[in-house]
Amino acid sequence: MSISQLAKSIAESPTLKMNEIARTLRDRGEAVIHLGGGEPKSKAPIDAILRASAKLNSADIKYTPSDGIPELKKAVIRYTEEHYRKVVEPENVIVSNGAKQALSVLLQALINPQDEVVFVAPYWVSYPEMVKIAYGVPVVVEPESGRFIPTMKDIEQAVSSYTKALIINSPGNPSGAVYPEELIAQIVKFCEKKDIYLIMDDIYHKLIYDGRSPVSCYAFSKKSIEQSKLIVINGVSKLYAMTGFRIGWAVANSQLVEAMTRLQAQTTSCPSALLQEAAVGALMGVQSGVESLRLMLENNRNVMIDELNAFEGVKVEKPGGTFYCFPDFSAYNKDSVKLAEFLLEKVRVVTVPGKDFGMEGHLRLSFCGSIKDITEGIERIKWALDPNAPNELFIGDRKLVRDWL
Ligand SMILES: Cc1ncc(COP(=O)(O)O)c(C=O)c1O
Repeated sequence: MSISQLAKSIAESPTLKMNEIARTLRDRGEAVIHLGGGEPKSKAPIDAILRASAKLNSADIKYTPSDGIPELKKAVIRYTEEHYRKVVEPENVIVSNGAKQALSVLLQALINPQDEVVFVAPYWVSYPEMVKIAYGVPVVVEPESGRFIPTMKDIEQAVSSYTKALIINSPGNPSGAVYPEELIAQIVKFCEKKDIYLIMDDIYHKLIYDGRSPVSCYAFSKKSIEQSKLIVINGVSKLYAMTGFRIGWAVANSQLVEAMTRLQAQTTSCPSALLQEAAVGALMGVQSGVESLRLMLENNRNVMIDELNAFEGVKVEKPGGTFYCFPDFSAYNKDSVKLAEFLLEKVRVVTVPGKDFGMEGHLRLSFCGSIKDITEGIERIKWALDPNAPNELFIGDRKLVRDWL
């Protein structure tokens, strides 16, 4: 087949693939437990729905400016002021089809062939592929401690004269790790000193637990937004449970936003007019849903971590944010792909292999489902792996007999 070298080099999204597998099995009536998902189960905010409905009812749904409708840019400016204490202008904001597209056009706007982009393992599965799509070279920082938060030394060692940008994702997917404020401050200062772009992927920034508050990276920068190489990526997907709406944004200097807008205009024209209205509704409407979601997730996290702590052989770090944890199952199987396939086949639990996030031996487990899914999911995994567990397990009215341990 004559598909391009580039297309051949790009891996499929393992998380979206897992969603597909779970959906197919459920459609067949199988009692699947999905611990692989990357989206809250709650409904989208009513203000988002009302605003999108009004737009739909107008039947006047046309192309919008490529960088987003003025009302949504205004809402993003307000959000940036409120949560980052940073005043920015409309020309500093671009609205895209999800944070994913914002990141993708950003990398395309920044990278020349062979420029290096540095990010930390375990990393979000899309970073290496997005860098490759932009003809850049992904460079992975592997924290020397073997833990999820790097030291400045780890980062400094990965940065070279070829480095164009560093991506930081805190709270991070898949580990849920939240970087200490001092580390964020050091990273901002280091990037300014080295004159490299710092991309803060803040898509989970308010989903943070244990009484901690989100940190604004701008607080540590001495530069004005126009001089700055700091870029903040965010969106409505995670905080407002609006993953399917596909609205995200970037805040950056106006020259960069202008370049990103040209790329976006020539590829997808603009984000959907209807869904941008929904995002305005979410950002400008009643905000209590975000805090309810955060509280619910914190409780789910505690349940999942208690379950995993009682799971012999499994090592887990308590995530400070997001809705994921990233336990180490290497005592049971060092090959995370084989382990995830085994769990799906034997006990119908969907997980995501750590290999795809750049860390073997781990599985990403989400706690954005129900408490029942969390407890039953871990119970099934335990049953599948632990030789001390009883020999039989009921999934619905199906009796499973373990014949592999
Ligand atoms: C770290 C990270 N960044 C960005 C995104 C993309 O979010 P969106 O749905 O806005 O494209 C995700 C989604 O899973 C993510 O985990």
